Amino acid sequence: MTERRIPVCIPLLGEAEARNVNDAMAQGAISGFFGDYLPAFEEGFAEFCECPHGVAVNSGTTALHLALATLGIGPGDEVLVSTLTNMATFFAVLYQGGVPVPIDIETDTWNLDPTLLEARVTSRTKAIIVVHLFGHPVDMDPVMDVAGRHGLAVIEDAAEAHGALYKGRKVGGIGDIGCFSFYANKILTTGEGGMLTLKDPKLAERARSLKSLAFGQDNKFMHADLGFNYRLTNLQAAIGCAQLERVEDIIDRKRATAARYTGLLRDQELLQLPVEKSYARNVYWMYHVALLGGAAARRAEVMRSLAAQGVETREGFVPANQQEIFQGQGWTTPDDCPKANVAGATGFYLPSGPTLTESEVRQVAAALGEVLSKTISSPAQGH
Ligand SMILES: Cc1ncc(COP(=O)(O)O)c(C=O)c1O
Repeated sequence: MTERRIPVCIPLLGEAEARNVNDAMAQGAISGFFGDYLPAFEEGFAEFCECPHGVAVNSGTTALHLALATLGIGPGDEVLVSTLTNMATFFAVLYQGGVPVPIDIETDTWNLDPTLLEARVTSRTKAIIVVHLFGHPVDMDPVMDVAGRHGLAVIEDAAEAHGALYKGRKVGGIGDIGCFSFYANKILTTGEGGMLTLKDPKLAERARSLKSLAFGQDNKFMHADLGFNYRLTNLQAAIGCAQLERVEDIIDRKRATAARYTGLLRDQELLQLPVEKSYARNVYWMYHVALLGGAAARRAEVMRSLAAQGVETREGFVPANQQEIFQGQGWTTPDDCPKANVAGATGFYLPSGPTLTESEVRQVAAALGEVLSKTISSPAQGH
């Protein structure tokens, strides 16, 4: 094939982003302390999430850590976490000395299965972290119900789900704290960056203090607490303000790409496609699929063949319970979450960036169809 290589994601950036960055530069407002873009981005993004407060930080990982620190989660506290996620979600709990409890997934949305939560609550449980994986919202009502009955805080890891809706409500504003990532491949990007969305003004104030070294009120250098430097810069916020103007367009593009893929791939018996439950607006951060039947054990081969045709793909996440670095710590073993283990071994995602064209989607779907028909008709390749 001679068509050009199709990467997993190219960010959608334009003149507005460049204009804002140059403006911030011209003002010398380049740090995380000064400049008009920071408050404008925090307010604009919080409004987009239908949540009263936004606290900008420098990554999704630090957003999660700051959320746990803000809620006072500390050593020995147990936190129920969806096992199938970017490991940043687990790292954040461990940074605080907390004990993550991996929760297995639903096989259709790949999100945490809320029916498994109750049985894992102990006297030490303090919080639940749900992850709106690949842009599909978690079924939040049963999660909030368990949290309410046991007095648990709820953190939404919405790093992949800007603008996703649960029963008409924006994710990030349903639990106590929402955590977003603005990494380059995210729905809205500032290159690197993140945001906390919060309803409670006191929690927002605490997060704002902790993210900036908890400087003192009267004497700046008499610190109020053990703080962090997790500040987003005004330069990054300048990009964020421009991205906010186009975020609905980006979501429309993601949804259009997903609809095209689904139309072209729905008859593939060897593929499980993403769903959109009746309670959800899926924003399809990445169009994630899983291999079924005779193709299930042949993901590496399928991905290699696609790469040879110029189609970049990425494996789905390795569940927390299977991470080698976590074994022997006493809180997980590889077989803890059997459904996530299957998804982790068979899933991968297709090019899904906002700049992807209709003809590129057709090219990817055709390449995948061809690879699958060859894969299934040939013996497995050892490697
Ligand atoms: C679900 C999830 N949580 C957390 C993160 C961490 O965000 P960041 O890379 O901005 O630190 C990511 C992505 O990178 C993610 O996909």
